[in-house]
Amino acid sequence: MEWSTEKRYLPYEKWSAKTLLKLQTQAGNSPYQLHYHIRPKSGLLNDPNGFSYFNNEWHVFYQSYPFGPVHGLKSWDHCVSQDLVHWNDLGTAIYPDTDLDSHGAYSGSAKVIDDKLFLMYTGNARDAEWIRHPHQMGAFMDKSNNIEKLPTSLIEQPQHTTDHFRDPQILEHGGKYYCILGAQDKATKTGKIALFEADDVKGPWHDLGYVDFTTEEMGYMIECPNLVFIDEKPVLIFCPQGLDKSIVKYENIYPNMVLVGDKFDFKSAQFDSKNSIKNLDDGFDVYATQPFNAPDGKVYALSWVGLPDLTYPTDIENWSGCYSQVKELSLKDGQLIQKPVSAIKDLRQEEVPFTGKLETKNQYELKLKVAESQKTTLHIAANEENGESLKLHIDTAKGELILDRENSGFTVNEKYGTKRAIKLLENSALDLDIFVDHSLIEIFINGGEHVLTARFFPKEGSNKLLIDKNIKFKGQYWEMADI
Ligand code: FRU
Repeated sequence: MEWSTEKRYLPYEKWSAKTLLKLQTQAGNSPYQLHYHIRPKSGLLNDPNGFSYFNNEWHVFYQSYPFGPVHGLKSWDHCVSQDLVHWNDLGTAIYPDTDLDSHGAYSGSAKVIDDKLFLMYTGNARDAEWIRHPHQMGAFMDKSNNIEKLPTSLIEQPQHTTDHFRDPQILEHGGKYYCILGAQDKATKTGKIALFEADDVKGPWHDLGYVDFTTEEMGYMIECPNLVFIDEKPVLIFCPQGLDKSIVKYENIYPNMVLVGDKFDFKSAQFDSKNSIKNLDDGFDVYATQPFNAPDGKVYALSWVGLPDLTYPTDIENWSGCYSQVKELSLKDGQLIQKPVSAIKDLRQEEVPFTGKLETKNQYELKLKVAESQKTTLHIAANEENGESLKLHIDTAKGELILDRENSGFTVNEKYGTKRAIKLLENSALDLDIFVDHSLIEIFINGGEHVLTARFFPKEGSNKLLIDKNIKFKGQYWEMADI
């Protein structure tokens, strides 16, 4: 199907209910559809937005283009949960229906203010010459989930940035509101994080300049910056586009990075850190992760498993993208740890020992403990002859772990490589917690010291789980329930 600009930006009301229903059915019936992760009802899902706890529920919204597997006119779709695992998709919540967000209700965040949830997001508007005008917008959601947009823009594009100025994360500190945004500096065309301050979310918002967190050049644009505090340490999670690989090594088209700091001074925008910038996830497809400091004192995060400017095999089924499970973030010796939330265990069905071979429904959790000095390959979604599978090469003598999606079914963006490797301690036992949901794999390594997340697309009937050698290991397997 030809996706002309005109078609991508066709107003929502011009699409028929019948077309939408057809798209929803197609996405719902896909063999690659996720069954215990957030996925689009139809069309394309990208960044998580407005991740929050309000009115006794968890909320997350997803960037949505419901009419196809392309980045068209974006809206926010609303999902709610009682336990961060079972999510209920309530449908479109913010439509791109005003002059300020006419070309997309782009990414943003949420903060509870009195008895409402305040949503702050980027209204993407283009003029007749197709010049982009980003407006940082506000909206209040009440306890019945009614959303009312504020009529005027809260922050306009500053003089010193280009029109790449978006994705506000709202924060509260010392009785004031702050907001960080992804930006491109006009003079240098480099990626920046902008900081603004206000006494009231409705404004006026004052420009405090760029966050000073590195002396390195952060590519040409930073998308989706987020600041959270873990054990009072500031942690920055952000997506620098065009980052030079000599600064931080990465293989995905665009990386999702993390920097653990020591101190953040809101007034001077100074972020002090003795650490280096790292990949948040060691796999293939994580982007636009949105963390938040929750009222239960914990820090949770959710990632888009999909990357901008790439295509995926489900595009031919007219849908694309999904979310990771919610991860709980903590710090250990200055390193970020990411773990599944405890409620994910509620999805486990009967426990089955994994002794080396199982037929699966490609919807399971596998806990695997491998002793030291072992070398093997775990085959995931292997076909009958085991000629095709997603492979996890394990070498606990050398301390190597390699996820290999070459020859795992339909190819996925091979241009960016087919393997992702992690270096672990040599001669050490390995602890893996692996979650497979049809076309998604999440591997939590050694209690969340690393996470490898990837989409993969096995051919029909490829459903075997195998270990190819007799090695010292212990495996526990559970089929996982639908949510
Ligand atoms: C990141 C991003 C954001 C933008 C949104 C639009 O994937 O490009 O910067 O707000 O997606 O959908």
